[in-house]
Amino acid sequence: MSDPHGPEVRLELVGQVALLIVERPGACNALARSTMVSLGEVVNELDHRVNAGLVRAVVFMGASGRFVAGGDVIDLLNVKSEVAAQELSRGMQDTLRRLAALSCPVIAAIDAYAIGGGVEVALACDLRVIAADAFLHFKHVDLALTTAWGGQRRLAALVGPQRALRLLWDAAKVYAEDALRLDLVDRIAAPGESAEACARAWATSLAQRPPHVLAAMKRLSRRSESEVDPGAIDRLERSIFSAAWMHSDHDAAVQHLLSERRPRGVVPPRGRFVVFEGLDGAGTTTQMHLLATALRSRGQEVLTTGEPSGGPIGRLLREALGSRIAERTDGRFPAASIALLFAADRHDHLKHEIEPALDAGITVICDRFDYSSLAYQGQENDPDWVSTINRSLLRPDLVLLVQVTAEVAASRRATRNSVPEIYEVDDFQRRVVLAYADIARHREGDPIVTIDGERDRAEVGRSCLEAFDARLVSLKPMG
Ligand code: TYD
Repeated sequence: MSDPHGPEVRLELVGQVALLIVERPGACNALARSTMVSLGEVVNELDHRVNAGLVRAVVFMGASGRFVAGGDVIDLLNVKSEVAAQELSRGMQDTLRRLAALSCPVIAAIDAYAIGGGVEVALACDLRVIAADAFLHFKHVDLALTTAWGGQRRLAALVGPQRALRLLWDAAKVYAEDALRLDLVDRIAAPGESAEACARAWATSLAQRPPHVLAAMKRLSRRSESEVDPGAIDRLERSIFSAAWMHSDHDAAVQHLLSERRPRGVVPPRGRFVVFEGLDGAGTTTQMHLLATALRSRGQEVLTTGEPSGGPIGRLLREALGSRIAERTDGRFPAASIALLFAADRHDHLKHEIEPALDAGITVICDRFDYSSLAYQGQENDPDWVSTINRSLLRPDLVLLVQVTAEVAASRRATRNSVPEIYEVDDFQRRVVLAYADIARHREGDPIVTIDGERDRAEVGRSCLEAFDARLVSLKPMG
């Protein structure tokens, strides 16, 4: 799959040295889920190039003079189930296993910091170079989490299980000199020199040496390290991590982290709340990510989310939409129950995900909100009642209604190869088109902008960004 969200991880080739660069402006190079996907693809690409003899050494680094700040807490706010948390762990375990197995030297260049999962990334490299004033921060326990990306087993292999445990329990922040003494890093850049420059010089010299010998040594070294079965430890790590992820302590730690970002005594400008609406197949999810990427590239913090949410009511709704309610012979709930569930999910979503992010000054982009309830549940229930049960909810600052005809939406859905949900029926979708048009016409006070969604997706993306700028940038300074 190619990354639809922009090049958050890129490769730059300097002779036979490859620079693998994580670039998340505005997020301290923290890894969002899209970045993780992108990293997996770049590691694949590297593997081909190394095997073809085109790359002989790799420098893993972050853009803008800092390494990686772990997982992006904002993006990960909507990882709301144990299964999703396991997947998060599995994906990065796999990517870092492949990174570690590249048959050439891989050097982490740690400028400024590596934090939490960022340390786990550094530990998956063969060698670590750190800037003289940089640090490693084993921050997991502060977020009530364990490692998730193979970090604890790699740390234990490097410094011994006892010391690994101490570093993690203490949420230790280890500066360059101590990191070298503990063997956590292999070299400190000269004062005033960047870790990147130092790592590049080292990689360039390693790239001159016979690659097959370096690769053979790496294999031997990895072999001697892995007396225990890393697969079994990774499985255990996944299940332990996902349980910690779902514990209320983690939720509380994240809320605390978000509230701490606010300068003391100063209420930050609230984040913007932007909603995408449209038919199934209108392209709202793609457009949400395009807009998020554009805003992030301006250094803005953005949470992308959607409804049904990833929370417990949202998961129940997914079952209902797929006619998979086990206790009902037809797998379904009555239309009124579904309408109430959507409203209930929305309240929960607002309280646990959207409001805390907006309060922290983060722009939230949501794929569907209560207009969907009006357009969809309004077909099978009294529209006034649907409107009532959704009343008094937070109003969006901007609603981007992506319009396509029911026919275009149907043909796009046909290429998706997924089992149709209950509303994905042509006649129903035609009525939803009319309902959306009605909403756009009659809700004059609402900030709805209609976007022609039948054009090329980059063009649609430009229109969405223009609408955002026209409506929101001019209002007051962004948070
Ligand atoms: P959708 O965003 O299309 O999810 P996906 O593309 O991942 O399946 O939402 C799923 C369905 O839920 C879609 O058919 C619209 C419907 N829906 C409602 O009927 N009412 C609502 O309030 C919301 C939020 C969604």
